Amino acid sequence: MEVRPTPSSAPTSSGIETSPLTPSIGVEVHGIDLSRPLDDATLAAVRRALADNSILLFREQTDLAPAELVAFSARFGPLEHHVVSDFLLPGHPEIFVVSNIVENGRHIGAYGGAKWWHSDLSYMPEPSLGSVFQCIECPRDGGETEFAGMYAAWEELAPDRQRWLLQRRAIHDYAWHYATYLSHRKPLTEEQKARIPPTAHPCVRTHPETGRRALYLSSSLVHRFEGMSFEESRPILDEVNEFATSPRFVYRHRWRPGDVVFWDNRSTIHRACPFDEQGARRRMHRTTIKGDRPFLELDPSELDA
Ligand code: SIN
Repeated sequence: MEVRPTPSSAPTSSGIETSPLTPSIGVEVHGIDLSRPLDDATLAAVRRALADNSILLFREQTDLAPAELVAFSARFGPLEHHVVSDFLLPGHPEIFVVSNIVENGRHIGAYGGAKWWHSDLSYMPEPSLGSVFQCIECPRDGGETEFAGMYAAWEELAPDRQRWLLQRRAIHDYAWHYATYLSHRKPLTEEQKARIPPTAHPCVRTHPETGRRALYLSSSLVHRFEGMSFEESRPILDEVNEFATSPRFVYRHRWRPGDVVFWDNRSTIHRACPFDEQGARRRMHRTTIKGDRPFLELDPSELDA
């Protein structure tokens, strides 16, 4: 579903001007130049808008230099250096390059990936709070990014499935993901695998800033449910993933150079859409902000049938 922002944008109580991208997730933020330092009140308003809306779009940030992207992102928390170090931007290891472009015989960025629903770095013990993604170059057709809102997906899930998920943790496993989905790339080294052992997280998490619950699962980074085999887990994971990515929960972003999208990895999953990877060029720069350990606030009486 692609919905254009409503023409009328209204100042929010927190002082930044936004307009919705869809009825359920995402807003465009107006009047902010990310290349300039934000004052503390604006920063707090951006942070709150992210927690509430899950996706923030900033248009026309064409002059945003790598150091400025890093400076903006670092206001929200420490920045991760991706375990796949081949694709870190030279001179700015906080920026992970996502691109199909080949220069001097080598890929300048992560290519042919991210086409499966996931939340960035969900396999870390303290996964990412959010990612800031800048479009440098994009194809005329395809190459969009789709986002699914995990607050709404959780709230609309069948009560029986909710109760089942409230009592379970899922094993997130990047080495399994890499071997399964990214076999066209150079394999991970033993040293890289040792840095990313499988990690269990609750299937539903309480958002630390809004207190709302969000589904915290994706079928491409979750290998299985704790205490269950891969074969037992897969049909349930696929069922929940299919529901959570129903068109009514999804925003598809069609990129323009200069767009910056800041998404909340605690309340969304996302995936890249296909494009002509042989004939077109796509180059995106991503920073990934470290978050805290996912938790679930649960009153045991909620589990009573
Ligand atoms: C990502 O998963 O961070 C990249 C998504 C995309 O390339 O659209």
